[in-house]
Amino acid sequence: MLIIEICVGSSCSLRGSDELASELFRLIKKENLDGLVDIVGAFCMDTCSKGISVHIGEREFSGIQPQQAEEFFYKEIIGQVESGILPKKMD
Ligand code: FES
Repeated sequence: MLIIEICVGSSCSLRGSDELASELFRLIKKENLDGLVDIVGAFCMDTCSKGISVHIGEREFSGIQPQQAEEFFYKEIIGQVESGILPKKMD
């Protein structure tokens, strides 16, 4: 399971972390990745000044705008599925 941690601290919330999470949830469903990828809220990651902060495993991202959700998803999440880090789901 790939866990996407999205900061829901006050600074990131004001910048739209809820909206980013909603959009990523929608894309997980669209790509049938339920059970392979999940999103959890996280406390402040101490990178508030850089914008919305997201951790995927050991990788740390910041400054992700809700409008960039799709680009971020296909680059950083689908990329991991396609590279074999995550198994593809059989229908
Ligand atoms: S509130 Fe998100 S990094 Fe601090």
